[in-house]
Amino acid sequence: MAIISSKKQSPEPDNSDAAQSGNLPLSVESGSSGGKPPKPPRTAAKQAEPEDRGRGRDAILKADSEPEEHGKQEEKLRPQRLADYIGQKDLKEVLGIAIQAAKARKESLDHLLLYGPPGLGKTTMSLILATELEVQCKITSAPALERPRDVMGLLVSLQPGDVLFIDEIHRLSRVAEEILYPAMEDFRVDIILGKGSSARTQSLKLSPFTLIGATTRVGSLTSPLRDRFGLVQRLRFYELDELTEIVLRTAVLLKTSVTYCGAEEIARRSRGTPRIANRLLKRVRDYVEVKASGKVNQAIASEALQLFNVDPCGLDWTDRRLLSFMIERHNGGPVGLDTLAASTGEDAQTIEEVYEPYLMQIGYLSRTPRGRIATAAAWKHLGYQPPESQLMLLS
Ligand SMILES: Nc1ncnc2c1ncn2[C@@H]1O[C@H](COP(=O)(O)OP(=O)(O)OP(=O)(O)O)[C@@H](O)[C@H]1O
Ligand SMILES: [Mg+2]
Repeated sequence: MAIISSKKQSPEPDNSDAAQSGNLPLSVESGSSGGKPPKPPRTAAKQAEPEDRGRGRDAILKADSEPEEHGKQEEKLRPQRLADYIGQKDLKEVLGIAIQAAKARKESLDHLLLYGPPGLGKTTMSLILATELEVQCKITSAPALERPRDVMGLLVSLQPGDVLFIDEIHRLSRVAEEILYPAMEDFRVDIILGKGSSARTQSLKLSPFTLIGATTRVGSLTSPLRDRFGLVQRLRFYELDELTEIVLRTAVLLKTSVTYCGAEEIARRSRGTPRIANRLLKRVRDYVEVKASGKVNQAIASEALQLFNVDPCGLDWTDRRLLSFMIERHNGGPVGLDTLAASTGEDAQTIEEVYEPYLMQIGYLSRTPRGRIATAAAWKHLGYQPPESQLMLLS
């Protein structure tokens, strides 16, 4: 599979014919593994060809905010095939069938929307799909598709069956979305040539492709966009045994010795999230190299994670601060999201997307029309006695 990434470009004069002139917003990396050989690109993609050569799969570009070094490390830990992807049984089954059917019909896979909290494996699954389908994967993120030419350029450069992966798809601009509608439905883009009364629309045929959109906020997608995805799949938090398996797999890749109980201890504190499990394993590895020796067992893992302020339920300093603010200042709630954000100094969106889903999953927080409530379990976990009123609210 070849992986091609598109990043936000430095400003250039906009030009509605840009897609046809070959002035593409692409930086391109070619993959080394065994997908189909690159075919001569059609139309505008030709101009991107020289850049196609000579860069490795490891150079996948992630969201602009992510440090490159960290991104590279994460790439090494990603499973490459569907069989190596641990957990998400239902998702794997649905996608496995869809891949087999698409391959048998020699058609492109239906457009797919993957949603769920950060770090659960949306990007990983998209890359796996491209590998399984033996096609190229072009990766971009919605904020990089600000101008019409950015989207057009990507679309016209797609080869038959290619996967176009758009991360954070809920952040697409309106204009980008409108270009995508006919592209998704009829594999066609409409280009306006000329201006004023002499303006005319010309349709450009695209190769059939698969759009994979990933988002942590499926509710923010407009319904016309959401409706154009043939497959809409949610990723769920991982079970303890699945996360333990992920920790053991990562430990092998990182050449770290971990006992099953050590891996389980790390998994238990990983908020049901593989990215966190991998991160905690790295911290424990540091600890064992400096402070202890031998295999990472349960005692060492728990000692190390205590030091890094990750409690036995996986709550970190911010989770505890959010909950104790609700308990100490608002008697457990209800507290509005904006009040929580202002009082704890966290961004409202981060609270909503990163912290709340797991706190709700483990039953420590509930959302009500009047605001957020810290549940009796959260009171107990933080060492407080829940008041009668709180118990009544929850019953
Ligand atoms: N099912 C899995 N099996 C093994 N490792 C996994 C799995 N899912 C995710 N990972 C690991 O977790 C890391 C994070 O996954 P990924 O980047 O795909 O998450 P994401 O859902 O795209 O997150 P975000 O919403 O922040 O973009 C990957 O580097 C990978 O190593
Ligand atoms: Mg991702």
